[in-house]
Amino acid sequence: MQRRTFVKKSSLTLMGMGVFGSLLSNNKKAGVGLSVNGKRIESRIFELAKFGRDESGHGYRVAYTKGDIEGRSWFIELMKKAGLDPTIDAAGNIIGKRKGKNPSLKPIGFGSHIDMVPDGGNYDGTLGSISALEIIEVLNENNFVTEHPLEVIIFGNEEGGTIGSKAMVGELTTDGLQQKSQSGLTLAEGIRTIGGNPDNIQSCIRQKGDLHTWVELHIEQGGILEKEKIQIGVVEGIVGIVHWEVTVEGFANHAGSTPMNMRQDALLAASKFILTVNEVINSVKGNQVGTVGKIAVLPGAYNVIPGKVVLGLEIRDLSAEKIEMLFSEMEKRAATIAKEFKTTISFLRQPNESKPALTNKALQQTINTSAKALGFSTKFMQSGAGHDSQHIASITPAAMIFIPSVGGISHSPKEFSTATDMANGANVLLQTILKLDKE
Ligand code: GLV
Ligand code: MN
Ligand code: MN
Repeated sequence: MQRRTFVKKSSLTLMGMGVFGSLLSNNKKAGVGLSVNGKRIESRIFELAKFGRDESGHGYRVAYTKGDIEGRSWFIELMKKAGLDPTIDAAGNIIGKRKGKNPSLKPIGFGSHIDMVPDGGNYDGTLGSISALEIIEVLNENNFVTEHPLEVIIFGNEEGGTIGSKAMVGELTTDGLQQKSQSGLTLAEGIRTIGGNPDNIQSCIRQKGDLHTWVELHIEQGGILEKEKIQIGVVEGIVGIVHWEVTVEGFANHAGSTPMNMRQDALLAASKFILTVNEVINSVKGNQVGTVGKIAVLPGAYNVIPGKVVLGLEIRDLSAEKIEMLFSEMEKRAATIAKEFKTTISFLRQPNESKPALTNKALQQTINTSAKALGFSTKFMQSGAGHDSQHIASITPAAMIFIPSVGGISHSPKEFSTATDMANGANVLLQTILKLDKE
């Protein structure tokens, strides 16, 4: 709106009516005046949130579970109505295509994911997915045909380790497919439940250059944009993520008759190790993060000294070398802790890790210019969350657009972004796609 007013004034004073008329018609051809329907985006966010929700209002659209399957069917129906002719690839990614004027051009890709973490929020992934659909509908409603074909991709099981996008770039191994997912099924079994084919997983691999570009709109999931009152984040890089299963073995014994100095308490050793993870992460400068987010204590009784503890350790950073350096320091300290408590501590690196990725610089600029042209404030920033875009970046120029998350809360039912911010982000995505289309 702001931009249109500016164009009108300057055209009238500087160029006269005739030039103004042709400027407007050029703008229309370029799709400059097109705008998303913010209400429709928000109401679909709420509609999708109903799938997998329990009686207490908590969401469970974890990949490969009933909620995920139902949510996907709902989304596929909408894609069909929008003429996207959706198909499901071998990894369970949903792919919708819209023809361009020039079929020899490579498709511009955009989208996100609609699965969630257990008891997750309603905006993570769904914003980028619903906005991608919205853009197709706006183009349909305005009979606007892009030069490039367009491809909407809704990745399968993003939250379980960006599985769909890893498969698409050839990084999901046969070993990796045997990993247990949050649903309780192995990835191979899970992929089958959403219409994929793990036996022929290679068939979903996309080659370098198959897509013209890739852009993902997402909520920030942190509190920087809100705190600094910035409307749009331009993502410069996405962190790498590595997981280890940490097993602490002690000796399960009677909690009443075993004196304190004769114990091999695995939980004591594990507790010290958890604190050490925090210490090591904080011992060097930078934005690295490390978390122990899972713990199982065995056998798990009031009157038994814990004999075994299994922890889930995660380290994230933009530098793969730094992740290795931090881990090797933790491993070193773990050996001392194990000795102190007469236990053993071992580490099993999990398959399906995510490498850090930088987004494409030219694309960052296209996003920034599109946002500025719409009158939005912008900030270049890194993503502490993992995203499918970090894998897609290995086969095509990729970038991400962030919008504010209220309170910086994510992976929680309290996750929230305003309808205005969502519409802003979707409009930046729309204008970015139209700019890329003209290149
Ligand atoms: C995905 O949201 C992740 O960052 O784990
Ligand atoms: Mn996400
Ligand atoms: Mn997430």
